[in-house]
Amino acid sequence: METTYIMIKPDGVQRNLVAPILERFLAKGYILRGLKFMNVSKSLAETHYSDLSAKPFFGALVDYIISGPVVAIALEGKDVVAQARKLIGATNPLASAPGTIRGDYSIEIGRNVIHGSDSVENATKELALWFSEGLVDNNPVLRSQIYE
Ligand code: TYD
Repeated sequence: METTYIMIKPDGVQRNLVAPILERFLAKGYILRGLKFMNVSKSLAETHYSDLSAKPFFGALVDYIISGPVVAIALEGKDVVAQARKLIGATNPLASAPGTIRGDYSIEIGRNVIHGSDSVENATKELALWFSEGLVDNNPVLRSQIYE
């Protein structure tokens, strides 16, 4: 079973979108394995986005991520990495379809409300980075009800 890393970025928190965003993932049936409300250090933000360190927007991206608290989320489920990306929508709000989280809640690429791991490999790396204490073994009964 896959687990992915989701993060509600500072603008999502400040705009009081934590509950509606969480609702979408939990209603879909994914299982919560980790949830933290936290401030982000500059070094954590830089490590998380290290693949983008050569991009011109890297400095602004790091400043944005550390500008206020985020909600770090670990979600488990069948194909959750790709499915969560689908629910989140395209990076650029101009391209993200209505009905997706970014399509419904954002208009600016540099304030696009939410992060979701883009591959199983990156999900593993990001979960280790953001949940170094490990994940909670949640709801074995629920899991057996969701999956055949
Ligand atoms: P990226 O990993 O390409 O997108 P995604 O978040 O969809 O996986 O980029 C990371 C974040 O960097 C993105 O969510 C918003 C920001 N960003 C910009 O500010 N400007 C840009 O031109 C791009 C491509 C990304």
